[in-house]
Amino acid sequence: MTLLHIDNITGGYGSVHILYDLEMKVGQQEIVVIAGPNGAGKSTAMKSVFGMLTIERGTVNFGGQDITTHRTEHIAGLGIAYVPQVNNVFQSLTVEENLEMGAYLRKDDFSGSLSQVFALFPDLKKKRAQLAGTLSGGQRQMVAMGRALMSGPQLLLLDEPTAGLSPKYMTQIFSIIRDINSEGTTIMMVEQHAKQALKLADNGYILVAGRNRHEGPGKELIEDPEVQKMFLGG
Ligand SMILES: Nc1ncnc2c1ncn2[C@@H]1O[C@H](COP(=O)(O)OP(=O)(O)OP(=O)(O)O)[C@@H](O)[C@H]1O
Ligand SMILES: [Mg+2]
Repeated sequence: MTLLHIDNITGGYGSVHILYDLEMKVGQQEIVVIAGPNGAGKSTAMKSVFGMLTIERGTVNFGGQDITTHRTEHIAGLGIAYVPQVNNVFQSLTVEENLEMGAYLRKDDFSGSLSQVFALFPDLKKKRAQLAGTLSGGQRQMVAMGRALMSGPQLLLLDEPTAGLSPKYMTQIFSIIRDINSEGTTIMMVEQHAKQALKLADNGYILVAGRNRHEGPGKELIEDPEVQKMFLGG
């Protein structure tokens, strides 16, 4: 079943168009990866789901509901969480305070989510009282992902979760993403480490200049000679 459908959108920032006739589908419980060169519009595509763009034509549907013109806070309340590419933690708050911020829209008891986040990221449990600004890049990324999970999302949007991380952290983050997914959360992520990400992906999209250039099951994209040559470093 399709959970998210970016249905043929054209739009961007104000009157400046960045995305053209973009079409993406994310099925329930899938991992979908968006790859492509710098400036292709990957982050912009993700922001289109979170009410952060001017969409001129086309629609964004989530769980059968048209959310094209909905405000960000309303979209978050429907069960979508977004981890931006940069500035994604509150540096002057502790790890635990950052996590609690993620639950601010919830009216129910979120202690179960906190235990779940600490189970996924044992490092964060140890450092729960430490200021997020004093953590390493990899640990800050974990805080950002943990905070997003605290809202109990159905769909988690991750913009380059492994950017700038050491190979050790990259492997760890990918493995945690797989765990989050197997616990029932649908994932849409942008990744520069396209090959590793596509290995995890049910489906992938390769964006060039705001348009879909290639799409298909992750493993098929990895095998595609043109995709290999142009986007996966041969
Ligand atoms: N807030 C903004 N206002 C106006 N233009 C923007 C804004 N953010 C991004 N752009 C422009 O939109 C285009 C696509 O940017 P975007 O950040 O979506 O690319 P990307 O594929 O995520 O690139 P990267 O790999 O560098 O993260 C770029 O030309 C960029 O300059
Ligand atoms: Mg980007």
